[in-house]
Amino acid sequence: MAVLLIFLCFCVDGKRHLFMGRDDVLLDTVSAGQRLEEGLPKLSANPPRYSNATRRVQTSAIRELFALLARPDVMSLAGGFPSAAALDLDGLREATKRATARSPALAFQYGNSEGYLPLRELIVQRARETGIRLDAAQTVITTGSQQALDLVSRVLVDPGDRVLVESPTYLGALQAFRFQGADLISVSTDNEGPDDLEEIIVRQRPKLFYLIPNFSNPTGAVMSVRLRKRILSLAKIHHFHVVEDNAYGELYFNEPPPPSLLALATEEEREWVIHLSSFSKILAPGLRLAWMSAPVELLRHIVVAKQLSDTHASTLAQLTAFHYLNAGSLEPALSRIRHFYRNQALAMRRAIDAELTDTSFRTAWPEGGMFFWARVPGIDTSAMLEHAVGCGVAYVPGEPFYASKPDFTRLRLSFASASVEEIGVGIRRLAQCLHSAHEMSAEHEVTTEPSLRTA
Ligand SMILES: Cc1ncc(COP(=O)(O)O)c(C=O)c1O
Repeated sequence: MAVLLIFLCFCVDGKRHLFMGRDDVLLDTVSAGQRLEEGLPKLSANPPRYSNATRRVQTSAIRELFALLARPDVMSLAGGFPSAAALDLDGLREATKRATARSPALAFQYGNSEGYLPLRELIVQRARETGIRLDAAQTVITTGSQQALDLVSRVLVDPGDRVLVESPTYLGALQAFRFQGADLISVSTDNEGPDDLEEIIVRQRPKLFYLIPNFSNPTGAVMSVRLRKRILSLAKIHHFHVVEDNAYGELYFNEPPPPSLLALATEEEREWVIHLSSFSKILAPGLRLAWMSAPVELLRHIVVAKQLSDTHASTLAQLTAFHYLNAGSLEPALSRIRHFYRNQALAMRRAIDAELTDTSFRTAWPEGGMFFWARVPGIDTSAMLEHAVGCGVAYVPGEPFYASKPDFTRLRLSFASASVEEIGVGIRRLAQCLHSAHEMSAEHEVTTEPSLRTA
């Protein structure tokens, strides 16, 4: 019965068939994963005693999906976390040992809010090697780039302020901006972006434009240099901040992506650029370390917000990262990681070619990052998730990645965490799931819309 109800939600002629009440979706835009898990308490849709900010944000679909990933019978192609095989555990263990042996008093002591200066200096030195002029005074270490997004929103955004976001974009950023009460405006950044981008900016007067220019989450896309420069120039003219989130820029398979917006910006344009990079995908997400670079004046306010939030990023984690980088371990590890993810992506592409070509599934080859972003015309991927889990495979539906007007036929597959064999099994199960979904969708159309058959 549950399966039947799910199929009643499938797309018909590209439109969502609304057997599921729209309000359910609005109150809980990420309900697909949440409905399935059993252990976690459900978030109340309208907690009257809580703040307006709390009411604006529901839990993340991806977090909720974690509950599913623990099920041994489900092959997860959902989570975007690094495979254990991609972590340099020996190198990290060594770096932790050095941190605790050489400066234990420092490692377990409070630190300053900007972050451990020797680590910031090493970060600045690496940035310079990729053409980014920086000095340590323009960088702050944050507790992951998720915290950087939260701090940026708290420092720059008031309820009702407009924030431009790509369509689709990283769910965690949408949540941070929503929590602050931002009015999110979606902009497509495919190819060269919309022709009327400047008109949109003049009309909306955004406070900031959030971008993931390299191997984006969820699309894997890389923004063209022309569009990067166009956005920088518009930021300078119309006075909005550009938040450049470079979480995946170092995970390229062959060629590095184009220069970052921070590297491309002229002196005047730099006044509007906030650059975020993270150690999560290149070193270890459990360290919870990222860095932010922004104009010094703005950074001062960010540091005050950080003091209110967590005082500083973990000193032990910062010293561990420092010793890892200082030993010269990062570059060789990164070469291995790039090779590893390229192989993972190739395995997924081979499995897709072998199993999915006779379904409506379509996707493009990413040149880096962790994801394939697919379209499955005729299928509502949020509604299909429960069925997919029944088939033994999990993915992330496209819906929660959109600030508005979601494309329900999209889904994200991650090749980061599963082994090559598991990727093959997962894609085979997805193919079985799609075959049965297409069949049931066709039957549904036959029984409910006979006129379409004869048209
Ligand atoms: C685009 C993007 N930005 C930021 C983050 C947050 O990363 P972290 O807080 O681990 O640095 C993620 C995590 O997956 C991401 O995909």
